[in-house]
Parts: sequence; structure tokens; C-alpha cells
Amino acid sequence: MDEKKVEKKVMLSGIQPSGDLHLGNYLGAIKNWVERTDEFDNFYFMADMHTITVRQTPADLRRRTLEQLALYIASGLDPEKNTLFIQSHVHQHAELGWVLQCYTMFGELSRMTQFKDKSSKHQDNINAGLFAYPSLMAADILLYQPDLIPVGEDQKQHCELTRDVAQRFNHFYGDVFKIPEPYIPKTGARVMCLTTPETKMSKSIPEGCVFMMEKPEDIQRKFKRAVTDSDTENCVRFDPVNKPGVANLMSIYSAVTGKTFEQIEQEFSGLGYGAFKPQVGEAVVEMLRPIREEATRIMKDKGYLESVYRAGAEKASYVAEKTLRKVYKKVGFVAR
Ligand code: TRP
Repeated sequence: MDEKKVEKKVMLSGIQPSGDLHLGNYLGAIKNWVERTDEFDNFYFMADMHTITVRQTPADLRRRTLEQLALYIASGLDPEKNTLFIQSHVHQHAELGWVLQCYTMFGELSRMTQFKDKSSKHQDNINAGLFAYPSLMAADILLYQPDLIPVGEDQKQHCELTRDVAQRFNHFYGDVFKIPEPYIPKTGARVMCLTTPETKMSKSIPEGCVFMMEKPEDIQRKFKRAVTDSDTENCVRFDPVNKPGVANLMSIYSAVTGKTFEQIEQEFSGLGYGAFKPQVGEAVVEMLRPIREEATRIMKDKGYLESVYRAGAEKASYVAEKTLRKVYKKVGFVAR
């Protein structure tokens, strides 16, 4: 079969550079993207425009955006095979974002759980951008006419809204947008906090969060202090309901080593948590070591980073412009 004739499906996703990338981002998202590189036509971006819906320190935002790109590459996302770009470099996002705000309902946005969460956390800054965030996210997605959007559970509601907005727009103007499917990878999708394993790993609880650029000794300390369970069984057994902490450590160890839960139970049978926790820490340290070293090297090569994000923005912009032009025409804007 002639390979060129087989059009690959389009995959797109983004992460906000509002915090340093952590193990949850890696095992839940980036690692899967790397494994799927050849299967899809891929667009991955740093969602910097979304981060300013809450206050950021400018210098930190800039550093984290570049570091995120360096970590994408160091993790194995080949810039030749994946379009890697910075959201704010592709002006079509802001432009389509505005149009889609006019096709997103106040009631719909009011129901978004992330808005309710974030507005209760930042009561002094419930700005219009925070409220309209899902319209911009819809624009991020729909510009590239993707088939699949790999996201975590917490973004499912935004993906549903994207589909609703796209369908509403198509209903008025014909088939402008492809209706994308959320894609939630089965394995490694959810890494939980090491200190409160009932919640997702997040930068908001630093002691329970392992950052990709963190020093090995800090990573080890966090694993040694990881919560296991309150009973005294001291047995490595997969039981997410009664032993969420142990289950989380087992999931991490399994994602890193490829071992099954049964194999892990056997490996540590009779050994207890005192042996198990540092072993998980060790596996994570060794997995992250080459990535951290490569990212550190790339961060020093500003010229290379620049060439990657410029080429990425150019490719992304080319695709995005086609969609934006169609949209502008449909709504009745005079062609430029
Ligand atoms: N809202 C996503 C998050 O907070 C980030 C994001 C922005 C995104 N635009 C996107 C994810 C488009 C997937 C597709 O995690």
C-alpha cells in the first residue's frame, strides 16, 4: 500500500506552563505522546495564554514555558515528527477564541467545575478570561481539526463543551469543524499525590509531587515519606480502595518498569513498605535522570530551542489559518 495515501489521524494536546512539569504530566501525558508519535499527526503546545487567567510572575512563566519545551524534547518528542509550539506565538488561537466566545453560552461556562474551583480559590481575581477559558481551549482544539484530544479526566468536561460549541457552529454554517473525541489513555493516566493519595498529583502540594527536574535526593525523600496506609499490614498488595497510597506507588512502579501488579506483589512479598518505597523512588530517579540531563543541556542551547518553537509556530499557524479563514468567511467578515 502506498503509505502517503494513508492520512494519519490528528492528535493535539497542551499543558499549561503554570507550574513545573511533574511525574503526573510525564506518566499521564508526555510518555503516551512519545509512544504514539508515529501513529498520528501530532500538535503539542505550551498553553501559556491560559496561564494568565490566574496571576503569574512574568520571569517564571517565561522560564517554565521554555523548560516545558525542553522537557518535551528531552522526553523523546521529536520536533521533526511532532509540531511543538507556544500557544501565544500562533495568533489564530486568540482570534478563534474570540469568535467561539460568541458561540459559547453563559450558562455553559457557569457549569464548568474548573471555573467553580478556580474562582473559589482566587476570589480576588475572578476575571473574564478565567470564565471564558473553555472557549479559548475549544479554539486551541478546533483550529487543527484533530480526531483525538488526549486529556486527563479533569479536562473531559472542557472537551465535551468543545464538541457542543463545534456542533452549534456547524449547525449554523455547515461542516466547518471536525468533532473531536477525547482520548483518555488507559494506563498511567492518573498519578496521585504521594502525601494525599486520594487527590491527583499536583504542584499545589509540593511534598506529594515529584517534579521532572527535581534532584534525585529530593525525589528519594518524597518517596520515602510517601503515605502507604493506616493499617499495620505492611504488605505490598494492590487495593486502591483500602490502600490508595500503596496502589499509587504500585501504579507508578508498574508504569516505570513495565512490571504487572502481580509481579510487583511477588517482588516485595515479605519485604514491606520499608523496602518498597525506596525501590520505587530509585526507579523513578533512574527514569528521570537522562531526561533531566538532556533538558538541562537543551535549556542552555537557546538557539536550538528558538529554532524548534519558531518552526513549530510556523507549521501550526499554516494549519490554523486555514480553519480561521473558513470561520471568518462563514460568520460574514470581509476577506483581508
Ligand atoms: N486546559 C488544559 C489543562 O489545564 C490545558 C489545555 C489548554 C489543553 N488547551 C488545550 C489541553 C487543548 C488539550 C487541548 O490541563
